[in-house]
Amino acid sequence: MIVYSEIASIKKRIKSFNKGLTIGFVPTMGALHKGHLSLIKQAVLENDVVVVSIFVNPTQFDKKEDLVNYPNTLENDLSLLKSINCDIVFTPNQNEIYDENIKSENFDFDGLEFQMEGKFRKGHFNGVGTIVKRLFEIVTPTNAYFGEKDFQQVQIINKLVEKHKLPVNIIGCEIYREPDGLAMSSRNVRLTKKQRLAAPFIHKTLLAAKELFGTKNAAIVIDWVENEFKNHPLLKLEYFEIADEKTLKPIKKVISGQKYRAFIAIFADEIRLIDNISL
Ligand code: PAJ
Repeated sequence: MIVYSEIASIKKRIKSFNKGLTIGFVPTMGALHKGHLSLIKQAVLENDVVVVSIFVNPTQFDKKEDLVNYPNTLENDLSLLKSINCDIVFTPNQNEIYDENIKSENFDFDGLEFQMEGKFRKGHFNGVGTIVKRLFEIVTPTNAYFGEKDFQQVQIINKLVEKHKLPVNIIGCEIYREPDGLAMSSRNVRLTKKQRLAAPFIHKTLLAAKELFGTKNAAIVIDWVENEFKNHPLLKLEYFEIADEKTLKPIKKVISGQKYRAFIAIFADEIRLIDNISL
């Protein structure tokens, strides 16, 4: 495994590959856990060469304290990556990527950016679009892997690729969960013992909502979920939405042939957790 931190060096290495080689790419912000590793293992199975980037992208953080407090576990990340046969790791610093101009491009994602996470995290998807487009230009991947844990992000990236005609296949990967159902996230380690014990309630509620959606309309399901969290001592609901998988717009009425998904964001004190489920 080789680690590059300069754009010129990684580009040179990638240029040296035979044209026919497939490159699998997994962008990350580090603090790797089994959720990230599941994407990288899939990339290893499906490609000749696998590149993982570790870069805590400043332009996608709407809250400065989240950026400052983002965990850095680089040594551990690198040994995990080596153990699962990653070939190349890209660990640029801010200057390398932004050249002292730490700003996002402005994207038009056909309205996807105004739903859910977009309402609560201003500028977040412009930041994600900016860094992912830049990384795609550097790594030139055949296939790029994104987790459905951040389902809206997967759809934003699909839109980015479609609108800018980028030559890469986007592969959405299933949510990797703890045995008790909690979606893996680098934020889970920040939960107190009590909050950690309470957190599987999020996935449990999604499963129950899925079942209810089989017999009741969306408004009833939404009411039910909101009620479940109303008096919860530790978990505060930010939003629960049932939306069309493609447009991410809230469901009005069920149209046959369309796919729907339920999305949730909650707070345990200041720790924000998201999850979703296909209905
Ligand atoms: P990060 O939060 O580090 O996540 C990197 C990738 O791992 C994302 O595609 C995310 O959806 C996926 N992932 C995280 N937890 C997962 C889980 N439990 N199951 C499956 N996949 C999971 O997402 C980002 O970084 C950034 O926005 C990035 C795309 C790197 C751009 O900066």
